[in-house]
Amino acid sequence: SDYATILVERRERVTLITLNRPEALNALNARVLDDLLAALADFDADDGQGCAVLTGSAKAFAAGADIKEMQPLDFAAVYGRNHFSGYERLTATRKPIIAAVAGYALGGGCELAMMCDFILAAETAKFGQPEIKLAVSPGMGGSQRLARAVGKAKAMEMCLTGRMMDAAEAERAGLVSRIVPAADLVEEAVKTAATIAAMAPLAVLANKEMVNAAFETTLAQGVQFERRLFHALFATADKQEGMAAFVEKRPGAWTGR
Ligand code: HXC
Repeated sequence: SDYATILVERRERVTLITLNRPEALNALNARVLDDLLAALADFDADDGQGCAVLTGSAKAFAAGADIKEMQPLDFAAVYGRNHFSGYERLTATRKPIIAAVAGYALGGGCELAMMCDFILAAETAKFGQPEIKLAVSPGMGGSQRLARAVGKAKAMEMCLTGRMMDAAEAERAGLVSRIVPAADLVEEAVKTAATIAAMAPLAVLANKEMVNAAFETTLAQGVQFERRLFHALFATADKQEGMAAFVEKRPGAWTGR
């Protein structure tokens, strides 16, 4: 299907979504949100697809929410319409999404990357929450997800000063899972996504769901939730197949049941 602000490509079981507003460094406007929601809903509903990659350009993953779109808005407009709450719906995607970040991931761009399940960064990646320079703040979960990802000290400094983190600092701080050469970023992300997409589909959903539970609950409740999902996976045909395949020294052939 055709979208105005993103490109969507299927590479076997991997959906590659590329933000495509080069004239605005992929700034996130209302159309980008609509396009992303539609593309991710298609991806989630398609049994042929197992994992998505969300990327931008070499210069910018996304330079933030669209400042020109926000400029005319006042309190009544944003509070009255719960502006930006729609982005949270992206996190309802049940299959995994990898953010592949090169260049700027600022403001809403950093927040969008953090809504994905993990971030692969090019050496050129720069992460920041510069909203304070516009006399505002993160509004798509950045203050919360950044604090959980990198801890209070770095999150607070970044939100209060707008300082950007480079890829090396982001990796040390735990914001990104790995750094790869910029030229290999998309291929490496697609390869990683293909590895995930080759796993038993129900196990993929369960693993994502239980790691996410770690951010929403106590340790005891999280451990219990994990064990119950683990038990539930023993009811799947793919569990029988996976363990038989191991014993018989052959690859598993999944049915998704
Ligand atoms: C709208 C943007 C934009 C943005 C860049 N552009 N960022 N347009 N919204 N967030 C546009 C520029 O206006 C310019 O268009 C073109 O993209 C190229 O950008 P330049 O500034 O000329 O590029 P450069 O000099 O290389 O600087 C790159 C940059 C800078 C450092 C990333 O663009 C920048 O500081 N951008 C804003 C970053 C930011 O403040 N993000 C947070 C936004 S607030 P023209 O037409 O002039 O050539 C936010 C709120 C999130 O995200 C919370 C949700 C509620």
